[in-house]
Amino acid sequence: RIAGPSGLVIFGVTGDLSRKKLMPAVYDLANRGLLPPGFSLVGFARREWQDQDFAEEVRQAVREHARTPFREEVWNQLSEGMRFVQGDFGDNAAFEQLKATVEDLDRSQGTGGNFAFYLSVPPKFFPEVVQQLKDHGLSDAPEGSWRRAVIEKPFGHDLTSACDLNEIVHEVFAPDEVFRIDHYLGKETVQNILALRFANTLFEPIWNRSYVDHVQITMAEDIGIGGRAGYYDGIGAARDVIQNHLLQLLALTAMEEPASFDADALVTEKLKVFKAVKVPADLARSTVRAQYAAGWQGGEKVLGYLQEEGIAPDSRTDTYAAIKLGIDNRRWAGVPFYLRTGKRLGRRVTEIAVVFQRAPHSPFDSSATEELGENALVIRVQPDEGVTVRFGSKVPGTSMELRDVTMDFAYGESFTESSPEAYERLILDVLLGDANLFPRTEEVEESWRILDPVEEFWDRSGEPAQYPAGTWGPAEADDMLARDGRSWRRP
Ligand code: BG6
Repeated sequence: RIAGPSGLVIFGVTGDLSRKKLMPAVYDLANRGLLPPGFSLVGFARREWQDQDFAEEVRQAVREHARTPFREEVWNQLSEGMRFVQGDFGDNAAFEQLKATVEDLDRSQGTGGNFAFYLSVPPKFFPEVVQQLKDHGLSDAPEGSWRRAVIEKPFGHDLTSACDLNEIVHEVFAPDEVFRIDHYLGKETVQNILALRFANTLFEPIWNRSYVDHVQITMAEDIGIGGRAGYYDGIGAARDVIQNHLLQLLALTAMEEPASFDADALVTEKLKVFKAVKVPADLARSTVRAQYAAGWQGGEKVLGYLQEEGIAPDSRTDTYAAIKLGIDNRRWAGVPFYLRTGKRLGRRVTEIAVVFQRAPHSPFDSSATEELGENALVIRVQPDEGVTVRFGSKVPGTSMELRDVTMDFAYGESFTESSPEAYERLILDVLLGDANLFPRTEEVEESWRILDPVEEFWDRSGEPAQYPAGTWGPAEADDMLARDGRSWRRP
């Protein structure tokens, strides 16, 4: 799978995402030989840069963040097609220049009129940029070529704003020309969920309410909000990652087998899950939101959220969120899915734990099974990528005593191939026009339908709970599971 003649235009190219993820991903793709020879990269931003300044920035970003080694010959070829257009989003002259640049690249680099426009900009600018692309004829593909829009999250703030945005974007780009990024779908371990479930016979027979007690989906981060106060405050953990990443993980874990492995079939099955997701009526008992307080992390004293630069001292934004969801269908009726995420937690880890019911009957003395937990299958999304199965085993010795043991699959041990970074995979798929790993309009809207009542409830409730930085979240979240006779895993 090698991309054909094409180019990528990045709006907001001076931002963090572009420097840390997009530019390095483009280089890594080039280095792996997956980009066409004349591939072109155009940066668009307000900064007063010339083409050479832009290329120098890309070079530094690549040096710092690329996965693959730096090779002069790859760089030299890639940098031939680098251009910079200076302007802000309201600047007609800048968009005319962008148009001229694109046409010039078609001639000099052979990009063939095929361009993807990556909107790595705050969502409030989406309508303006999309309109400008239309007004300056950039969204219309010349005969025999394609134009695509790539849109970063957050896609809206709630269901209404997401629908409004969808409408604006679709006035200019057809549904199959819009690629919405949820970078979790670009992760190798996330794509493996479907392989694990549907390429094997071992797991699927027990993947249902008859055997599964509950599912825990955790995305924990040790970092705070860093320099992202402007983006994060007012958004919070649930909108930042539950609405997209965690609900996508839930859909892949819970969905039925798709009829085939194409985008339409996948979306059909994911949508069925989203539509069956039920938010519990008693939101006070089934949701928790909290903020990190000052604490110790990795031997360092760190600030609380309200003391971070750029955060209002009375902000109620959640840096931790936990939600219990049900899925109203035959496979999952009565099985809770507990989702949690937070900044400044014990460590960085994302995992999906499918926790099975205890054996219906035990022939062993109760003293023999004291240390025995439930069977579990844990998909370790990151950082220690793999899958763990936990089950009970006899402790060696002359008496019958049982204890939990694990069976592990680790990517690093089983494969010599290295995983592409999520953005690498996704950018390549955009250039190939492969929509499998991109959430559709309806999925985004359904996710907001799930989250909106929770956010509205939190708006009406009092202050968020608190948890010291470096811990596993607020006591309220432990209580939430304890009420159900369960407890959170400590990954
Ligand atoms: C982003 C969120 O989507 O995902 C960030 O906006 C978060 O707040 C990031 O830090 C985490 O991504 P990853 O790939 O490091 O788990």
